[in-house]
Amino acid sequence: GTEELEAAFQARIDNNERIEPKDWMPEHYRKTLIRMMGQHAHSEIVGQLPEGNWITRAPTLERKQILLAKVQDEAGHGLYLYSAAETLGVTRDDLTEQLLSGKMKYSSIFNYPTLNWADIGAVGWLVDGAAIMNQVPLQRTSYGPYSRAMIRICKEESFHQRQGFDIMRKMANGTPEQREMAQDALNRFWYPSLMMFGPSDKESVHSDQSMKWRIKINTNDELRQKFVDQTVPQAEFLGLSVPDDKLAWNEEKGGYDFSEPDWNEFFQVIKGNGPCNEERIEARRKAWDDGAWFRDALTAHAEKQAQRRGE
Ligand code: 3HC
Repeated sequence: GTEELEAAFQARIDNNERIEPKDWMPEHYRKTLIRMMGQHAHSEIVGQLPEGNWITRAPTLERKQILLAKVQDEAGHGLYLYSAAETLGVTRDDLTEQLLSGKMKYSSIFNYPTLNWADIGAVGWLVDGAAIMNQVPLQRTSYGPYSRAMIRICKEESFHQRQGFDIMRKMANGTPEQREMAQDALNRFWYPSLMMFGPSDKESVHSDQSMKWRIKINTNDELRQKFVDQTVPQAEFLGLSVPDDKLAWNEEKGGYDFSEPDWNEFFQVIKGNGPCNEERIEARRKAWDDGAWFRDALTAHAEKQAQRRGE
Protein backbone atom coordinates (compact mmCIF):
# COMPACT_ATOMS: atom_id res chain seq x y z
CA GLY A 1 0.00 0.00 0.00
CA THR A 2 0.90 3.66 0.12
CA GLU A 3 2.45 3.33 3.60
CA GLU A 4 5.08 0.90 2.28
CA LEU A 5 5.77 3.16 -0.71
CA GLU A 6 6.12 6.23 1.56
CA ALA A 7 8.35 4.32 3.99
CA ALA A 8 10.58 3.12 1.12
CA PHE A 9 10.68 6.68 -0.25
CA GLN A 10 11.66 8.15 3.14
CA ALA A 11 14.39 5.47 3.46
CA ARG A 12 15.84 6.63 0.12
CA ILE A 13 15.77 10.26 1.35
CA ASP A 14 17.41 9.30 4.67
CA ASN A 15 20.02 7.43 2.65
CA ASN A 16 20.88 10.69 0.83
CA GLU A 17 19.68 9.32 -2.51
CA ARG A 18 18.64 11.62 -5.37
CA ILE A 19 15.01 11.30 -6.45
CA GLU A 20 14.69 11.33 -10.25
CA PRO A 21 11.63 12.24 -12.39
CA LYS A 22 10.58 8.66 -13.11
CA ASP A 23 10.89 7.51 -9.47
CA TRP A 24 7.78 7.02 -7.30
CA MET A 25 7.26 10.06 -5.04
CA PRO A 26 4.50 11.17 -2.64
CA GLU A 27 2.07 13.57 -4.38
CA HIS A 28 2.81 16.18 -1.68
CA TYR A 29 6.58 15.90 -2.43
CA ARG A 30 5.85 16.58 -6.12
CA LYS A 31 3.56 19.52 -5.29
CA THR A 32 6.10 21.03 -2.89
CA LEU A 33 8.81 20.89 -5.56
CA ILE A 34 6.55 22.39 -8.24
CA ARG A 35 5.71 25.23 -5.83
CA MET A 36 9.32 25.87 -4.79
CA MET A 37 10.98 25.44 -8.21
CA GLY A 38 8.23 27.36 -10.01
CA GLN A 39 8.47 30.27 -7.58
CA HIS A 40 12.25 30.15 -7.77
CA ALA A 41 12.05 30.37 -11.59
CA HIS A 42 9.53 33.25 -11.35
CA SER A 43 11.98 35.02 -8.99
CA GLU A 44 14.74 34.82 -11.60
CA ILE A 45 12.53 36.20 -14.36
CA VAL A 46 10.86 38.97 -12.32
CA GLY A 47 14.28 39.70 -10.78
CA GLN A 48 15.46 40.99 -14.18
CA LEU A 49 13.05 43.93 -13.99
CA PRO A 50 14.60 46.06 -11.20
CA GLU A 51 18.04 45.68 -12.80
CA GLY A 52 16.91 45.90 -16.43
CA ASN A 53 15.60 49.34 -15.45
CA TRP A 54 19.23 50.58 -15.21
CA ILE A 55 20.89 48.95 -18.23
CA THR A 56 20.23 52.02 -20.43
CA ARG A 57 21.42 54.33 -17.65
CA ALA A 58 24.59 52.60 -16.43
CA PRO A 59 27.35 55.18 -15.70
CA THR A 60 29.96 53.60 -18.00
CA LEU A 61 30.03 51.20 -20.95
CA GLU A 62 31.82 48.62 -18.78
CA ARG A 63 29.08 48.77 -16.08
CA LYS A 64 26.47 48.46 -18.85
CA GLN A 65 28.16 45.32 -20.20
CA ILE A 66 28.43 43.77 -16.73
CA LEU A 67 24.78 44.49 -15.91
CA LEU A 68 23.66 43.15 -19.33
CA ALA A 69 25.58 39.92 -18.67
CA LYS A 70 24.03 39.56 -15.21
CA VAL A 71 20.44 40.13 -16.39
CA GLN A 72 21.04 37.66 -19.23
CA ASP A 73 22.29 35.10 -16.65
CA GLU A 74 19.05 35.55 -14.65
CA ALA A 75 17.02 34.75 -17.78
CA GLY A 76 19.07 31.57 -18.18
CA HIS A 77 18.56 30.65 -14.51
CA GLY A 78 14.81 30.99 -15.07
CA LEU A 79 15.06 28.70 -18.10
CA TYR A 80 17.02 26.03 -16.15
CA LEU A 81 14.47 26.12 -13.34
CA TYR A 82 11.34 26.05 -15.54
CA SER A 83 12.85 23.12 -17.47
CA ALA A 84 13.67 21.31 -14.21
CA ALA A 85 10.10 21.98 -12.97
CA GLU A 86 8.70 20.53 -16.22
CA THR A 87 10.14 17.12 -15.24
CA LEU A 88 7.38 17.09 -12.56
CA GLY A 89 4.57 17.21 -15.11
CA VAL A 90 3.82 20.95 -15.30
CA THR A 91 4.48 23.18 -18.30
CA ARG A 92 6.18 26.56 -18.25
CA ASP A 93 2.91 28.02 -19.54
CA ASP A 94 0.99 26.57 -16.56
CA LEU A 95 3.50 28.12 -14.18
CA THR A 96 3.37 31.50 -15.97
CA GLU A 97 -0.45 31.56 -15.84
CA GLN A 98 -0.28 30.93 -12.07
CA LEU A 99 2.25 33.77 -11.67
CA LEU A 100 0.04 36.19 -13.61
CA SER A 101 -3.10 35.14 -11.72
CA GLY A 102 -1.33 35.64 -8.37
CA LYS A 103 -1.61 31.94 -7.47
CA MET A 104 2.19 31.58 -7.47
CA LYS A 105 4.71 33.91 -5.85
CA TYR A 106 8.16 35.25 -6.66
CA SER A 107 10.76 36.54 -4.20
CA SER A 108 9.47 39.48 -2.15
CA ILE A 109 12.68 41.46 -2.73
CA PHE A 110 11.77 42.27 -6.33
CA ASN A 111 8.80 44.34 -5.19
CA TYR A 112 11.14 47.11 -4.04
CA PRO A 113 12.19 49.83 -6.50
CA THR A 114 15.74 50.48 -7.72
CA LEU A 115 15.86 54.28 -7.46
CA ASN A 116 19.47 55.00 -8.44
CA TRP A 117 22.76 53.39 -9.45
CA ALA A 118 23.82 52.65 -5.85
CA ASP A 119 20.72 50.42 -5.63
CA ILE A 120 22.16 48.28 -8.42
CA GLY A 121 25.25 47.83 -6.25
CA ALA A 122 23.13 46.99 -3.19
CA VAL A 123 21.05 44.50 -5.21
CA GLY A 124 24.14 42.65 -6.46
CA TRP A 125 25.88 42.74 -3.05
CA LEU A 126 22.90 41.98 -0.75
CA VAL A 127 20.21 40.32 -2.90
CA ASP A 128 22.57 38.07 -4.83
CA GLY A 129 24.54 37.56 -1.60
CA ALA A 130 21.34 36.33 0.07
CA ALA A 131 20.42 34.27 -3.00
CA ILE A 132 23.84 32.54 -2.86
CA MET A 133 23.36 31.81 0.87
CA ASN A 134 19.99 30.26 0.04
CA GLN A 135 21.02 28.43 -3.15
CA VAL A 136 24.35 26.86 -2.16
CA PRO A 137 22.70 24.36 0.25
CA LEU A 138 20.01 23.68 -2.37
CA GLN A 139 22.70 22.05 -4.55
CA ARG A 140 22.19 19.05 -2.23
CA THR A 141 18.39 19.07 -2.44
CA SER A 142 16.94 15.57 -2.80
CA TYR A 143 15.29 16.16 -6.20
CA GLY A 144 17.89 15.44 -8.93
CA PRO A 145 16.88 17.97 -11.60
CA TYR A 146 16.63 20.80 -9.01
CA SER A 147 20.00 19.91 -7.48
CA ARG A 148 21.70 19.89 -10.90
CA ALA A 149 20.07 23.22 -11.87
CA MET A 150 21.34 24.71 -8.58
CA ILE A 151 24.90 23.49 -9.22
CA ARG A 152 24.92 25.29 -12.59
CA ILE A 153 23.27 28.44 -11.21
CA CYS A 154 25.62 28.73 -8.22
CA LYS A 155 28.61 28.82 -10.60
CA GLU A 156 27.34 32.15 -12.00
CA GLU A 157 26.01 33.74 -8.80
CA SER A 158 29.38 34.70 -7.29
CA PHE A 159 30.08 37.01 -10.26
CA HIS A 160 26.67 38.66 -9.61
CA GLN A 161 27.54 39.33 -5.98
CA ARG A 162 31.12 40.50 -6.71
CA GLN A 163 30.10 43.04 -9.33
CA GLY A 164 27.51 44.50 -6.94
CA PHE A 165 30.01 44.71 -4.09
CA ASP A 166 32.48 46.39 -6.48
CA ILE A 167 29.90 49.10 -7.30
CA MET A 168 29.35 49.67 -3.55
CA ARG A 169 33.12 49.84 -2.92
CA LYS A 170 33.53 52.40 -5.72
CA MET A 171 30.74 54.60 -4.37
CA ALA A 172 31.59 54.21 -0.69
CA ASN A 173 35.12 55.45 -1.53
CA GLY A 174 33.83 58.14 -3.93
CA THR A 175 32.52 61.67 -3.41
CA PRO A 176 30.48 62.49 -0.29
CA GLU A 177 27.31 62.35 -2.44
CA GLN A 178 28.26 58.86 -3.68
CA ARG A 179 28.95 57.69 -0.12
CA GLU A 180 25.58 59.04 0.94
CA MET A 181 23.86 57.18 -1.95
CA ALA A 182 25.63 53.90 -1.01
CA GLN A 183 24.56 54.28 2.65
CA ASP A 184 20.98 55.13 1.60
CA ALA A 185 20.86 52.03 -0.65
CA LEU A 186 22.06 49.84 2.25
CA ASN A 187 19.43 51.42 4.50
CA ARG A 188 16.62 50.59 2.05
CA PHE A 189 17.77 47.09 1.01
CA TRP A 190 18.96 45.64 4.33
CA TYR A 191 15.65 44.49 5.86
CA PRO A 192 14.05 43.42 2.52
CA SER A 193 17.17 41.25 1.97
CA LEU A 194 16.63 39.58 5.38
CA MET A 195 13.03 38.87 4.33
CA MET A 196 14.26 36.87 1.31
CA PHE A 197 15.00 33.92 3.62
CA GLY A 198 11.30 33.59 4.44
CA PRO A 199 9.36 34.01 7.69
CA SER A 200 10.90 33.03 11.03
CA ASP A 201 11.09 29.26 11.60
CA LYS A 202 8.11 29.33 13.97
CA GLU A 203 6.03 31.01 11.23
CA SER A 204 7.31 28.80 8.42
CA VAL A 205 4.50 26.48 7.30
CA HIS A 206 6.54 24.29 4.95
CA SER A 207 9.93 23.97 6.63
CA ASP A 208 9.36 20.87 8.78
CA GLN A 209 8.14 18.67 5.95
CA SER A 210 10.64 20.16 3.46
CA MET A 211 13.50 19.41 5.87
CA LYS A 212 12.27 15.84 6.42
CA TRP A 213 12.28 15.27 2.67
CA ARG A 214 15.65 17.06 2.36
CA ILE A 215 14.08 19.43 -0.14
CA LYS A 216 15.27 22.19 2.19
CA ILE A 217 18.68 21.63 3.81
CA ASN A 218 18.67 24.53 6.30
CA THR A 219 15.91 26.44 8.04
CA ASN A 220 15.04 30.06 7.15
CA ASP A 221 16.53 31.45 10.38
CA GLU A 222 19.79 29.47 10.03
CA LEU A 223 20.44 30.94 6.56
CA ARG A 224 19.38 34.43 7.64
CA GLN A 225 21.87 34.27 10.54
CA LYS A 226 24.68 33.10 8.20
CA PHE A 227 23.87 35.96 5.82
CA VAL A 228 24.08 38.57 8.61
CA ASP A 229 27.32 37.09 9.97
CA GLN A 230 28.93 37.24 6.53
CA THR A 231 27.57 40.62 5.42
CA VAL A 232 28.19 42.82 8.49
CA PRO A 233 32.00 42.62 8.14
CA GLN A 234 31.61 43.52 4.43
CA ALA A 235 29.60 46.63 5.37
CA GLU A 236 32.32 47.56 7.87
CA PHE A 237 34.96 47.11 5.15
CA LEU A 238 32.96 49.55 3.00
CA GLY A 239 32.76 52.02 5.90
CA LEU A 240 28.96 51.81 5.78
CA SER A 241 26.72 51.16 8.77
CA VAL A 242 23.98 48.51 8.87
CA PRO A 243 20.68 50.26 9.77
CA ASP A 244 20.15 48.28 13.00
CA ASP A 245 21.20 49.77 16.35
CA LYS A 246 20.55 46.37 18.01
CA LEU A 247 23.27 44.73 15.90
CA ALA A 248 25.96 43.30 18.21
CA TRP A 249 28.36 40.36 18.17
CA ASN A 250 27.19 37.63 20.56
CA GLU A 251 30.25 35.63 21.66
CA GLU A 252 28.55 32.53 23.00
CA LYS A 253 26.23 32.33 19.98
CA GLY A 254 29.23 32.87 17.69
CA GLY A 255 27.12 35.23 15.59
CA TYR A 256 25.46 38.66 15.56
CA ASP A 257 22.30 39.53 17.42
CA PHE A 258 20.16 41.59 15.04
CA SER A 259 16.69 43.09 14.67
CA GLU A 260 14.14 41.03 12.77
CA PRO A 261 12.54 42.60 9.66
CA ASP A 262 9.02 44.02 9.94
CA TRP A 263 7.02 40.81 9.37
CA ASN A 264 3.79 42.72 8.79
CA GLU A 265 5.50 44.43 5.85
CA PHE A 266 6.73 41.03 4.62
CA PHE A 267 3.26 39.45 4.67
CA GLN A 268 1.78 42.54 3.00
CA VAL A 269 4.41 42.36 0.22
CA ILE A 270 3.88 38.64 -0.47
CA LYS A 271 0.13 39.25 -0.46
CA GLY A 272 0.66 41.63 -3.38
CA ASN A 273 0.65 45.00 -1.57
CA GLY A 274 4.35 45.87 -1.89
CA PRO A 275 5.70 49.04 -3.55
CA CYS A 276 6.11 47.48 -7.03
CA ASN A 277 3.92 44.33 -7.14
CA GLU A 278 1.43 45.70 -9.70
CA GLU A 279 4.19 47.10 -11.94
CA ARG A 280 6.09 43.79 -11.92
CA ILE A 281 3.04 41.65 -12.74
CA GLU A 282 1.94 44.14 -15.41
CA ALA A 283 5.40 43.91 -17.04
CA ARG A 284 5.18 40.11 -17.04
CA ARG A 285 1.62 40.13 -18.39
CA LYS A 286 2.64 42.52 -21.19
CA ALA A 287 5.59 40.26 -22.09
CA TRP A 288 3.20 37.26 -22.11
CA ASP A 289 0.67 39.02 -24.39
CA ASP A 290 3.30 40.54 -26.69
CA GLY A 291 4.94 37.14 -27.11
CA ALA A 292 1.71 35.23 -27.92
CA TRP A 293 2.15 35.53 -31.72
CA PHE A 294 5.68 34.13 -31.43
CA ARG A 295 4.62 31.15 -29.28
CA ASP A 296 1.74 30.43 -31.71
CA ALA A 297 4.14 30.58 -34.67
CA LEU A 298 6.56 28.16 -32.98
CA THR A 299 3.69 25.74 -32.23
CA ALA A 300 2.32 25.97 -35.81
CA HIS A 301 5.82 25.38 -37.19
CA ALA A 302 6.37 22.38 -34.92
CA GLU A 303 2.98 20.91 -35.95
CA LYS A 304 3.77 21.36 -39.67
CA GLN A 305 7.16 19.67 -39.18
CA ALA A 306 5.46 16.80 -37.33
CA GLN A 307 2.95 16.39 -40.19
CA ARG A 308 5.79 16.34 -42.74
CA ARG A 309 7.43 13.59 -40.69
CA GLY A 310 4.04 11.85 -40.70
CA GLU A 311 3.93 11.73 -36.85
N1 3HC B 1 9.20 35.94 -1.12
C1 3HC B 1 7.98 35.47 -1.47
N2 3HC B 1 7.34 34.47 -0.81
C2 3HC B 1 7.98 33.93 0.24
C3 3HC B 1 9.27 34.34 0.65
C4 3HC B 1 9.87 35.39 -0.08
N3 3HC B 1 11.08 35.87 0.25
N4 3HC B 1 9.64 33.59 1.72
C5 3HC B 1 8.61 32.74 1.97
N5 3HC B 1 7.62 32.96 1.08
C6 3HC B 1 6.32 32.28 1.05
C7 3HC B 1 6.49 30.80 0.74
O1 3HC B 1 6.56 30.60 -0.66
C8 3HC B 1 5.21 30.24 1.36
O2 3HC B 1 4.11 30.59 0.55
P1 3HC B 1 3.46 29.52 -0.48
O3 3HC B 1 2.95 28.38 0.37
O4 3HC B 1 2.39 30.28 -1.21
O5 3HC B 1 4.61 29.09 -1.39
C9 3HC B 1 5.07 31.11 2.62
O6 3HC B 1 5.77 32.33 2.37
C10 3HC B 1 5.59 30.43 3.88
O7 3HC B 1 7.01 30.39 3.84
P2 3HC B 1 7.79 29.02 4.14
O8 3HC B 1 9.07 29.35 4.81
O9 3HC B 1 6.87 28.05 4.84
O10 3HC B 1 8.02 28.50 2.64
P3 3HC B 1 9.27 27.67 2.10
O11 3HC B 1 9.54 26.46 2.96
O12 3HC B 1 9.01 27.44 0.66
O13 3HC B 1 10.55 28.66 2.27
C11 3HC B 1 11.97 29.88 0.71
C12 3HC B 1 10.64 29.86 1.49
C13 3HC B 1 13.12 29.94 1.71
C14 3HC B 1 12.00 31.07 -0.25
C15 3HC B 1 12.07 28.56 -0.08
O14 3HC B 1 10.91 28.44 -0.87
C16 3HC B 1 13.27 28.49 -1.00
O15 3HC B 1 14.39 28.29 -0.54
N6 3HC B 1 13.00 28.61 -2.33
C17 3HC B 1 14.03 28.36 -3.33
C18 3HC B 1 14.98 29.51 -3.41
C19 3HC B 1 14.33 30.77 -3.93
O16 3HC B 1 13.21 30.79 -4.38
N7 3HC B 1 15.08 31.85 -3.81
C20 3HC B 1 14.64 33.12 -4.34
C21 3HC B 1 15.78 34.10 -4.15
S1 3HC B 1 15.78 35.28 -5.42
C22 3HC B 1 16.68 34.53 -6.64
O17 3HC B 1 17.03 33.37 -6.54
C23 3HC B 1 17.07 35.32 -7.82
C24 3HC B 1 18.54 35.66 -7.65
O18 3HC B 1 19.18 35.38 -8.87
C25 3HC B 1 18.69 37.11 -7.31
